[in-house]
Amino acid sequence: MKKCDIGLIGLAVMGENLALNMESKGFSVAVYNRTYEKVERFISGRAAGKNFVGCASVEDLVSALSRPRKVMMMIKAGQAVDDMIDRLIPLLDSGDVIIDGGNSHFPDTARRTAYCESKGLLYIGTGVSGGEEGALLGPSMMPGGSPAAWQTVKPIFTAVCAKAPDGTPCCDWVGEGGAGHFVKMVHNGIEYGDMELICEAYGLMRDYLGMTADEMHRVFADWNTRELDSYLIGITADILSYRDTDGAPLVDKILDTAGQKGTGKWTAIASLDAGVPLTLIAEAVYARSLSAMKDERVAASKVFPRTPAELCVDRDAFLADLFSALYASKIVSYAQGFALMRAAAAEYGWNLNYGGIALMWRGGCIIRSAFLGRIKEAYDRNPSLSNLLLDGYFTEAVKNAESGWRRTCAAAVTAGLPVPAMTTALGWFDGYRSERLTANLLQAQRDYFGAHTYERTDMPRGEFFHTDWTGHGGDTASSQYNA
Ligand code: 6PG
Repeated sequence: MKKCDIGLIGLAVMGENLALNMESKGFSVAVYNRTYEKVERFISGRAAGKNFVGCASVEDLVSALSRPRKVMMMIKAGQAVDDMIDRLIPLLDSGDVIIDGGNSHFPDTARRTAYCESKGLLYIGTGVSGGEEGALLGPSMMPGGSPAAWQTVKPIFTAVCAKAPDGTPCCDWVGEGGAGHFVKMVHNGIEYGDMELICEAYGLMRDYLGMTADEMHRVFADWNTRELDSYLIGITADILSYRDTDGAPLVDKILDTAGQKGTGKWTAIASLDAGVPLTLIAEAVYARSLSAMKDERVAASKVFPRTPAELCVDRDAFLADLFSALYASKIVSYAQGFALMRAAAAEYGWNLNYGGIALMWRGGCIIRSAFLGRIKEAYDRNPSLSNLLLDGYFTEAVKNAESGWRRTCAAAVTAGLPVPAMTTALGWFDGYRSERLTANLLQAQRDYFGAHTYERTDMPRGEFFHTDWTGHGGDTASSQYNA
């Protein structure tokens, strides 16, 4: 029997659709699932008459593959991935590739890459974004792991992935070890930020301007033809026009408590570890956590009732400002996300191609947008751009949006309406563009109570001073003390 091009383990929604996508591009696919009924149902259902081999065991799957064998796991992140790797290792030979297409945490992927390489195998941890439809029609794919594996999987990955408007595949080699899953994690963090910003804009339209769902639908549909043209703005417009069976907007009947699976939290933690401010994404994660505290919020709303704001604004002018606030905050969010990737690249020795990453996200994935095309252009102009805000296009964009952004935040704060992502983005921006911050006082405080020392404005950088602030402290600085 002719051997299959690739094996796929895990026929949940993403695995099944990705397998169908691969087959539709001319690859033969062997499939295995822990519960065999799922394999049978797939083979006799959506896969009927197509180039698939249904397998009853991992052993069958491996023996159905051509060499070098490529086995892709589309299973739940965590221990299940480690267990499957251990089942596969004795069945595979040198040069074979194990691929993890789930949302694994990047340190796990780094560890698994080293482990598989130590057994003579190759490993790829790849981000796969785009949900069910993306998996079937073309996801964005972010592979990293063993560099030697890339050429083996490249023909399949670049055939099945989404294509940018110019036809370029939304998939390229990201880097060694956990690089692919790191980039996917940042993608998800940015996804959290984009979603929160859209929700804040929606909140101001609903609770400040008192707009109906139909009116909001029209605004988002219009925004989707401008700089904010993106998948998430598009689905927001769709959602707002969707009616329940009684004709009322379904969105109004959905409980206001958000779920999360943890990738946004990982991104925020990675930023704290790297010492790179990622304020917008962190706020987006906290906003979900706060939303989940429904009972507590209901009780607090009785203690601190909000006084309805006196609305004395021109609606169209406010909406124009709101567009600016969303756009400028989004630029800050991406600037922060790319800064985090730069820091990670330096720490882990990855040679990340930032324009290439923007292009990978240009199509197929949840954050796909015209905006990412602009980011790609910015990194084409300067591949070592230190911050997105310093690219001429984005500098101009932020300058043009700044006053509307400030007016929006001021109005929301005055009205007592929560816009944590928009305001934290503005706070970061005001800090980032400050020549002189207030950390001189902070350093003085640290030195006062803990002899932590400070640098002086009238002395060269790198020289540290300690003052006996009270006259009865010692002259031992904490750095000397620690040493
Ligand atoms: C994607 C998404 C996906 C993620 C969901 C749900 O790129 O296709 O990022 O990977 O799992 O968006 O994430 P939360 O449950 O954390 O919202």
